Amino acid sequence: MLNHVVLPVSFIDSVLVFAVYSFAGWIVEVIYRSWTQKRFVNAGFLYGPFVPLYGMGSVLVLGIGSLLQQCNHVVFIIAVGVVLTVLEYFIGYISEKFLGLKLWDYSANRFNLHGRVCLSFSVAWAVLAYALAVFVHPKVSSAINSLGRTFASQMAIAFLLYYSADLIISTVNALGFKKKSADLLATFSSKSDAELQAILSRFRRLIRSFPNLNTHLDGSMKANFTMKLGNIINELSSNAADELKKRRAADKEYISIVKDILVNSEFQRLKEYFHHNSSIYEHARRVSYLSYKISKLLDLDYRAAARGGLLHDFFLYDWRNHSEPELAAEKFHGLHHPAIALKNSMRHFELSEKEKDIILKHMWPLTLTPPRYRESYVVTFVDKYLSSAEFLSEFAKRGVMREKKKRLSRKLSRQ
Ligand SMILES: [Fe+2]
Ligand SMILES: [Fe+2]
Repeated sequence: MLNHVVLPVSFIDSVLVFAVYSFAGWIVEVIYRSWTQKRFVNAGFLYGPFVPLYGMGSVLVLGIGSLLQQCNHVVFIIAVGVVLTVLEYFIGYISEKFLGLKLWDYSANRFNLHGRVCLSFSVAWAVLAYALAVFVHPKVSSAINSLGRTFASQMAIAFLLYYSADLIISTVNALGFKKKSADLLATFSSKSDAELQAILSRFRRLIRSFPNLNTHLDGSMKANFTMKLGNIINELSSNAADELKKRRAADKEYISIVKDILVNSEFQRLKEYFHHNSSIYEHARRVSYLSYKISKLLDLDYRAAARGGLLHDFFLYDWRNHSEPELAAEKFHGLHHPAIALKNSMRHFELSEKEKDIILKHMWPLTLTPPRYRESYVVTFVDKYLSSAEFLSEFAKRGVMREKKKRLSRKLSRQ
């Protein structure tokens, strides 16, 4: 039976009980936090030596004790354990929701709920509450009673005034921390370590009292950074997806324009002839596709540019081999191959005047007559640009291979 639990009988008593246990809670927290952090820590949310959660908890415990005076001790322990757990969860929720601060975190403990409560601490609170109600409070109660009513009232009023001021200042500070941490999260990547330290030093006490705030800040910064990175990546990938979609659509159109040429068996023979750094077939495809893209961009006849560009080097011989029937010894490949390409193209495909001009003039200004169409100029410049790039890449590739061969022969000669 709990018939010796003494309930505060008046408002003044309740305030004083609240003050005493808030102070006792502060001492418990200071010892616990200073011990775990290996230095003195002014515990709690307030500047003064009070932890209101203990005060509230104690008043609640005494209230429950008086309600359950007819019950046995086990029922009381379970009841206060449940009520204190609910209170702890509620205060944790309020501080996270309205102050944006996670003042404690039991996430690492087993059987926790949202990190706000956990089984081991709830059991500890229940045992402490039982000790408070049965052993401590009777003595505290008789000490309060011995103060005399006037002095007790004055003490209660003084405490309420002081407590209200502390509560307001600490709440403003905590809200400032919330706002500042939000600013920090938005701008931390552009701030130096010293600037970050200067900002955080204003909230040093709060951070020391609640080391989880550091984790909270750190975690939020990481989450913020990950979120920003995620947004950038999403944006990039959606841009890339759009670009790919456009390219696929463009490729489809391009293929539909040149498909009959690409599948032609005679044109396919261009794959057999080396040109610059690959085959004539590959070179012609590159010239054709780039000319098509540029002409499309310039609002020109991209169809003619694509087809003329593809056929511009339609010669079926190795230009370095003058024993080929088409390239007699007296013929100079640079000057003669456009006419050969045009002849071959006309043999296999239906050509427009523009396409013919593109093929015939693609070596301009080597072949003196200038092109008649803007599309011919596009192809002639694209051909020169890509030929140079292909030559250079082949040149570099051969240089690397030569160097590798030299190194290998040096290695072999040393063995
Ligand atoms: Fe050519
Ligand atoms: Fe070419």
